[in-house]
Amino acid sequence: MDQYRVFGNPIKQSRSPYIHQTFAKSTDQQLSYQSELVEISAFSEIIGQFSQAGGKGANITVPFKEQALLLCDQLSERARLAGAVNTLSFVEDKILGDNTDGLGLVQDLLRHNIVLNNSRILLLGAGGAAKGVILPLLEQQPKLIVIANRTISKAEDLCTHFSLNEKCEKLSACGYEEIKHQEFDLIINATSASLSGSVPPISKNLVKVKTVCYDMVYGKELTPFLSWSKGLGAEQLIDGLGMLVGQAAESFAIWRGIKPEVETVIDNLRIALTKE
Ligand code: ATR
Repeated sequence: MDQYRVFGNPIKQSRSPYIHQTFAKSTDQQLSYQSELVEISAFSEIIGQFSQAGGKGANITVPFKEQALLLCDQLSERARLAGAVNTLSFVEDKILGDNTDGLGLVQDLLRHNIVLNNSRILLLGAGGAAKGVILPLLEQQPKLIVIANRTISKAEDLCTHFSLNEKCEKLSACGYEEIKHQEFDLIINATSASLSGSVPPISKNLVKVKTVCYDMVYGKELTPFLSWSKGLGAEQLIDGLGMLVGQAAESFAIWRGIKPEVETVIDNLRIALTKE
């Protein structure tokens, strides 16, 4: 049976085995998918062993996504610009690297009927999570994407990185203080602020009833950013659970050539979350 894994550290919390096993059942694919904890210093060795043993593909999660990129013989444009790989395919002695995180986000937004074409997007954060979604967002032809970050220089660096590669004039960078009166259709929180129970210090004026608020993080309760946005009257609040399942579906499609249905998996994970 074809073997797949997700490698990370920590890994116990990973929902990927459940997601991929469910995809396999629903698409009638015979495969095995397990999680594996990797010691920080052993990543390339473990990947080498898995590939040698006939492994077909792997998902890579924190903190190995940047290291994974260095192991690849071929990279997709998405992975190259993201500077990180979450999907490896082992094909005829070659390692192919892709990054499906941004596609997962875009698919989830489209699933919620959010129009990205010609939209004004505010992206909060300039770390790996933000970097991974910029190209797939740009491919949806928004009117503009403003990258705002606590450390302005990191937002500027990100902007330069994509502008050089994509010659894209739609991107701009700023600090949180500078964006008070601009109008945005969609605000995406790609910071890790939620993990420490805080919210990026953006102006309340930016959140209107019709502003779609998206947090890449998810949890049992509304994330701090979504809860704050709700308090300001925003009607459409979406957390990152659908993005998680969406990026998995894109990886599955790369490996198996068939795109699984995501709705049931998202619903089941949501139910499981509420019971935790
Ligand atoms: P990731 O790979 O998850 O994006 P990261 O590279 O450590 O993680 O980046 C974390 C992001 O969250 C950064 O944009 C960080 O802002 P700085 O670049 O200024 O550090 C942002 N972040 C983390 N905690 C935050 C907080 N409490 N308020 C605002 N931004 C925060």
